[in-house]
Amino acid sequence: MTAHYQVHGDVAVITLDNPPVNGLGLSTRQAIAQGLDRANDDPAVRAIVLTGAGKAFSGGADIKEFGSPKAYQDPNLLSVILAVEHSAKPVIAAVHSVCMGGGLELALGAHYRIAAPGTKVALPEVKLGLIPGAGGTQRLPRVLGVEAALNMIVSGEPVASEILAAIPGQKLFDKLAASAETLLEEAIALAREVADKHAGGAPLPLVRHLPCQHPQGDAYFQFARNMVGAQAKHYPAPLKCIDAVQAATTKRFDDGMAFERETFVNLMNTPVSMALRHLFVAERAAGKIADVPEDTPVREVRQVAIIGAGTMGSGIAINFLNVGLPVTLLEAKPEALERGVAHIRSVYEGQVKKGKLKPEQVEQRLALLRTTMTYDDIRDADLVIEAVFEDMAVKRQVFEQLDAVMKPGAILATNTSTLDVNQIAAFTKRPQDVIGTHFFSPANVMKLLEVVRGDKTAKDVLATVMALGKKIKKTCVVSGVCDGFIGNRMIEQYSRQAGFLLEEGCTPEQVDRAIEKFGFAMGPFRMGDLAGNDVGWYIRKRRYVEKPHLRYSKIADRLCEMGRFGQKTGAGWYDYQPGKRDAIPSPVVNQMIEDYRKELGINPRKISDDEIVQRLVFALVNEGAHILEEKIAARASDIDMVYITGYGFPVWRGGPMHYAEQFGLFNVVQAMKRFAKNPHDDAQFWQPAPLLQRLVAEGKGFAAV
Ligand code: NAI
Repeated sequence: MTAHYQVHGDVAVITLDNPPVNGLGLSTRQAIAQGLDRANDDPAVRAIVLTGAGKAFSGGADIKEFGSPKAYQDPNLLSVILAVEHSAKPVIAAVHSVCMGGGLELALGAHYRIAAPGTKVALPEVKLGLIPGAGGTQRLPRVLGVEAALNMIVSGEPVASEILAAIPGQKLFDKLAASAETLLEEAIALAREVADKHAGGAPLPLVRHLPCQHPQGDAYFQFARNMVGAQAKHYPAPLKCIDAVQAATTKRFDDGMAFERETFVNLMNTPVSMALRHLFVAERAAGKIADVPEDTPVREVRQVAIIGAGTMGSGIAINFLNVGLPVTLLEAKPEALERGVAHIRSVYEGQVKKGKLKPEQVEQRLALLRTTMTYDDIRDADLVIEAVFEDMAVKRQVFEQLDAVMKPGAILATNTSTLDVNQIAAFTKRPQDVIGTHFFSPANVMKLLEVVRGDKTAKDVLATVMALGKKIKKTCVVSGVCDGFIGNRMIEQYSRQAGFLLEEGCTPEQVDRAIEKFGFAMGPFRMGDLAGNDVGWYIRKRRYVEKPHLRYSKIADRLCEMGRFGQKTGAGWYDYQPGKRDAIPSPVVNQMIEDYRKELGINPRKISDDEIVQRLVFALVNEGAHILEEKIAARASDIDMVYITGYGFPVWRGGPMHYAEQFGLFNVVQAMKRFAKNPHDDAQFWQPAPLLQRLVAEGKGFAAV
């Protein structure tokens, strides 16, 4: 059972029990409805308490039911709330810990509410591109007042019960319990009190009967729309939240409910909500590894060592210092150590200036940082992350040394971005303890952490790194070993296409503008200028030797030969004014591109924004399909998480693989076939991955993989 029924003297207690957060799935809804009937049928029961077991009252909808017909099967949430309202005996919702979404809507159907202190109360539906769909937009303004309710509904952010209870005139909570421990006892006492009060037949209070108005009426809602409009550019839900709350002030309750329902159903079918719901599930799925159960014991990590205090090493260190883990930085050169520590300090000072940290917090964190130039000082670390130069000979030297000094069981991680993690593991006599931790730059800011599982990586090492990644607030995605792992392997194909687009007639500015309009944070050329065009140049030179059959546009090489490495050299694909980052289209670069086309005998053509976007995005999708087929990524949604959290793919489009499915895999493959016929593109490039062809032939989506 996902809810229990117990009788305490004359009070029935219905306890939701559907771990982890008492999601309101079908069986829980059935159990609540049955409990209400049973209590109403039992003459010995005078009142009913509705509460939750474990870590929540209720977190709302059961994500396991997302998108399945079960979510709407009777009794649906609206029917259960109606059953609560219609109970002849008073129902008291006793909420604690988490009271969100449908959980809060359920509580709002009760006749009385009591909350434990520290309960997080929220209607987070807007984060999934929705509005609350079970009365939240109609009932919350009636108990909290329009403004407080609208803020909660539009932001989706949780507010603590004691803050809500302090709002003058609020009717959300009739009582705050002294503590979570005494909540049930106090709820039962309240139940008896109200049972006495209503014994004479006085009607039970219902939120739907409370008035709902704003003194400024329409003017207030117009103001709210202006406030929300700019942020809500790609997201329809926030403005719809305002419409629904306004309806609560202008319509009869039942009409407001109908309006909310209609708006909710319409939003459910928008691509934005589908993308956001996909990512919600994707984020939770990414942490799961089929052959590493969630209860796999993890190794204790109390001390971290980082080898190399450069760009990445110093950024990585900040993550651990932030969560109170001592870090020792090891370097080959004292000046590099000094630079690394100075970088860490300057990041913290920047946060103090922005008011995000207090000076004493900076000192606390810096007190956890040690520096050294000898391996003896790190031998007791539980985790070592290597972030030295990207050179196999240097990595070898480091890992042989680590193997010689580190205590048994220490986890040895490499931050390599392109080298073979299996080969690095083989430099040690303990390949089971070796793993890749591919952070993204700036490592203290970027959410993504690709966790690279070597052929011999032990399961508990993987489980430990995943747990630690979560602790330092990263989105961890497991990748198998391959050149570039998931993200960079795909971006290389995207960059190749960007180069072909220049050859055929685009300017860097046109390509960037088109893909930025699609929603990418930054187009490929502005990105190249930021990251340094020499990085790609270095990789291409290796490719020309390793994979001579692959075609690359040589325009980017010409750019590098001109010394235009990007912002760091004051010029790249664009020109830059000293000290500024604004990308100014460069006549010199455009001339160089034109000259190059002439050499190749290409007559430039006008290329539409649609073609630019499709060629760039489908280049990602095709490589993503190869990655999926080779099991480098466990699921398509992992690839989406990589692109959303590490590469600035537009969140409201759900990631490249989700976008491709929405576009229709059939249509994606058709487009690839069209591109392959273009004499200046690369027919081999556009050979659809076998997995894509198979899915299209079988009429299936990536979920079938
Ligand atoms: P970096 O050049 O900024 O820093 C490397 C540091 O390692 C230098 O301070 C150097 O003195 C030190 N070092 C070199 N040999 C050493 C040795 N034997 N023992 C101790 N220290 C030594 O390089 P960066 O950018 O921090 O890259 C480090 C690693 O992270 C590379 O494997 C790179 O591929 C990878 N990476 C880099 C990213 C980036 O955007 N820069 C992103 C993701 C991974």
